[in-house]
Amino acid sequence: MKKTILATGKSKTIYTTDDPNLLVMEFRDDATAFNGVKKASLARKGKVNNHFNAHVMQLLAAENIAVHFVKLLSETESLVKKLDMIRIEFVVRNVVAGGISKRLGIEEGMVLPEPTLELFLKDDALGDPMINESHVHVFNWAKDEEIAELKQRTLRINTILKAFFAKAGLTLVDFKLEFGRADGKLLLGDEFTLDGCRVWDTKTQKKFDKDRFRRDLGEVIESYEEAAERLGIDVL
Ligand code: ADP
Ligand code: TMP
Ligand code: ASP
Repeated sequence: MKKTILATGKSKTIYTTDDPNLLVMEFRDDATAFNGVKKASLARKGKVNNHFNAHVMQLLAAENIAVHFVKLLSETESLVKKLDMIRIEFVVRNVVAGGISKRLGIEEGMVLPEPTLELFLKDDALGDPMINESHVHVFNWAKDEEIAELKQRTLRINTILKAFFAKAGLTLVDFKLEFGRADGKLLLGDEFTLDGCRVWDTKTQKKFDKDRFRRDLGEVIESYEEAAERLGIDVL
């Protein structure tokens, strides 16, 4: 079914298929951090992320969130709808960690009174700079109505996923989403995996996400698997 490589990203490869509206998304074992500065290959990562993503995408679809995910194809591949990607990363934070902690000098772990949403331009060469809605408007990266809709949708996804993680005794600290357009509709694209969010044990604060790789905490994929098991996601 796969035809040619459409894009080789830092952790996934995207292939065209016989159907111009469908793509194969292959999750590789590659891990990167700090916009590709730190690199490694982590055994089983592709498989774990493919299954984790499939589970979350299906959970969101069941809650009437429009997603690009169609179905699992193999251990490391999923079929997705082809999107005209919006070059913006939507980041939601429930707890202070990572970028916002460094930028604003606020200690990691502060629980926010309500979620905060940040926009970043998806551009590795520029280090994914933070942008605001006025930038999106003047540079025409997306329409005002699209941004309004996607901000609302991102916050709804946060509500759904916070509850999903909470049931397993896990805190969804923050996460990043990407969206795209297909047939005049806006769909959630890319992935939702432990590579693109922060998840802590609610009691012990143990980290289950890519900070284990960024900060050399060890047992990266073992922790991804432990979180998946607690969430009832079959990744083996
Ligand atoms: P990155 O280097 O951005 O981390 P990845 O390894 O995640 O890249 O590769 C995925 C690439 O495919 C990203 O550029 C992402 O925006 C893009 N993408 C994700 N979903 C879709 C889709 N449904 N249609 C087209 N492109 C997509
Ligand atoms: P940050 O704290 O580095 O700004 O990231 C916030 C969350 O968004 C964190 O869970 C990681 C995720 N994220 C990505 O996955 N890719 C990105 O390029 C950015 C900016 C954030
Ligand atoms: N900038 C993101 C991170 O530090 C993504 C990446 O570099 O792969 O996790």
